[in-house]
Amino acid sequence: MSDETLSNLLHENRTFEPPATLAKNANAQPDMYEDAKKDRLGFWDKQADRLTWDTRWTQTLDWSKAPFAKWFVGGKLNVAYNCVDRHVENGLGSRVAFHFEGEPGDTQTITYAQLQDRVKKAANALISLNVGKGDRVAIYMPMIPEAVVAMLACARVGAIHSVVFGGFSAEALRSRIDDAQAKLVITADGQNRRGSAMPLKPAVDEAVAQTPSVEKVLVVKRTGGEVSWGDKDVWWHELVDGQSTSHKPEAFDAEQPLFILYTSGTTGQPKGILHTSGGYLTQAAFTHFNVFDLKPENDIYWCTADIGWVTGHSYIVYGPLANGATQVIYEGTPDTPHKGRFWEIIEKYGVTIFYTAPTAIRTFMKWGKEFPDKHNLKTLRVLGSVGEPINPEAWMWYREVIGGNNCPIVDTWWQTETGAIMISPLPGVTACKPGSAMRPLPGIGAEIFDEEANAVGNGHGGYLVLTEPWPAMLRGIWGDEERFRETYWSRFAGKYFAGDGAKWDEDGAIWLLGRVDDVMNISGHRISTTEVESALVSHPAIAEAAVVGASDETTGQGIVAFVILRSGSEDGEGLVKQLRDHVAKEIGPIAKPRQIMVVPELPKTRSGKIMRRLLRDVAENRSMGDATTLADPTVMNLISQGLASGKSED
Ligand code: WT7
Repeated sequence: MSDETLSNLLHENRTFEPPATLAKNANAQPDMYEDAKKDRLGFWDKQADRLTWDTRWTQTLDWSKAPFAKWFVGGKLNVAYNCVDRHVENGLGSRVAFHFEGEPGDTQTITYAQLQDRVKKAANALISLNVGKGDRVAIYMPMIPEAVVAMLACARVGAIHSVVFGGFSAEALRSRIDDAQAKLVITADGQNRRGSAMPLKPAVDEAVAQTPSVEKVLVVKRTGGEVSWGDKDVWWHELVDGQSTSHKPEAFDAEQPLFILYTSGTTGQPKGILHTSGGYLTQAAFTHFNVFDLKPENDIYWCTADIGWVTGHSYIVYGPLANGATQVIYEGTPDTPHKGRFWEIIEKYGVTIFYTAPTAIRTFMKWGKEFPDKHNLKTLRVLGSVGEPINPEAWMWYREVIGGNNCPIVDTWWQTETGAIMISPLPGVTACKPGSAMRPLPGIGAEIFDEEANAVGNGHGGYLVLTEPWPAMLRGIWGDEERFRETYWSRFAGKYFAGDGAKWDEDGAIWLLGRVDDVMNISGHRISTTEVESALVSHPAIAEAAVVGASDETTGQGIVAFVILRSGSEDGEGLVKQLRDHVAKEIGPIAKPRQIMVVPELPKTRSGKIMRRLLRDVAENRSMGDATTLADPTVMNLISQGLASGKSED
């Protein structure tokens, strides 16, 4: 057993076939896998033909300078033209691009023709600020239409955007502006969150005071709050609104940098992940069309991500717009003004495709099905999940309560670095297992390796690697070639190591097991935190669970679990014992948590990832490390108080 890289302990036998009509009419049919296998590069050529190129490429892939790829070599295109203008030229100007729903209830309907005018004006505004090809622009904005317009305007003039999530601190913004040496910051006075106006501009003021590269700050008026005003500040409505709506998009090289997006690594310094144009847009559009089975003329698509994350880049801005989709964008939180807001929005706009994160799904489970049950969700036909492994229990709830047992769920595995979806079911083809991302998409090469870089077979686990370059792959880490090689390409020579553990089940479906640094070692037996969490959440009393390995004298690491109860369940006598027995039954006695703590909340980053590092500090009785990236800084106090009372110790 100890020669196994990751143990294969949890078994899932349920499968769900695609609904017959959806399968019959699906954009992606089973032969797509065969096509891509026969001629991988030819397959990607075909996908690149979804886009409108100014100059056609002469070579599909140049991998001679690996790990630095060039895709569609010699090709030229304008990304913003592909996302907006060409649809208008094709007679679709009156199609709605966005139904915008502000948190306070204000709305805007923006057609492709209107979006085109707004992007052209913003592009002219950028030019007036002397921002052009290759310049970096930091975007620190709420989820409002101007955020999308700003990104597209950058793309249109060849500037490189670096979107920084609006929930990040002034210091996080400062370090990102500084690393990219951004010349312009685009922001807003504030944003609406949980029923109140939260200022954004003060963080920008603080960051810009320390970043001399910034020449101007362009400010959208969103909340109308008081702002302090300096010489660099320019109101968006004063500069952009009066610009001309005529602007001719220039065609840029396929490898023209499109954006930098910072993501955290194992060290503190965030990595500026660099993406370029032709390959990125090809794969974003291809995956959006096929994984969500988009029918642009009928579907109403809603991705709940924020543009501050890669999901917002690829599946709100670039993929959907390149496909001419009609979307919903929502500014606020799911519980404002009530816990049914998402379901109300789905009903209001007749959303047909819905893409969200497991952490949100588990929150909805915790709130209870009475909220979705109040709304008509029958328009939904495809559901998606992204960001972390979705535990089978949450998957089933999503399927039954939100999807009415009638929608395929695409569990999409990818990363900031991959740029687009890599492993996922195809909704009209794949019989899905709850909790599995199933298999690599056509044109994508993935394997699971053991320590010695041998591919493991079905029924075995190990390290997830991507074996072939792909069009939307990162082209490097901004300003740090060595870190790029070291982080992704050195663990298994010449192959991209994703940092995730995964296993093939007996039928050859892929199960993601979390980041490898989230893997515990119990008596020489490696167990994924994800598997234990799934087992805990499959108990009727548990809404959410986070598991960490804490050092243990006898077993190397002991499993410590933090659990949140479902509403209605009680932290009564015997619950901890019941849960330990339940995990033993689901996975095996080896996975029995040493300790289970019932907590009111879990520490999460603003993107919803559980900060296991902090829980490990608690579990090992250490003083707590840096908690500045927590969404709610008070959570850790609540947890340690509960622990001090010793209440739920076994
Ligand atoms: C990491 C990447 C991809 C956009 C959002 C996150 C985890 C992502 C899944 C999934 C299991 C997943 C992985 C990956 N992850 N999607 N469907 N199943 N794990 O982007 O912040 O770059 O994080 O998120 O661990 O490596 P990111």
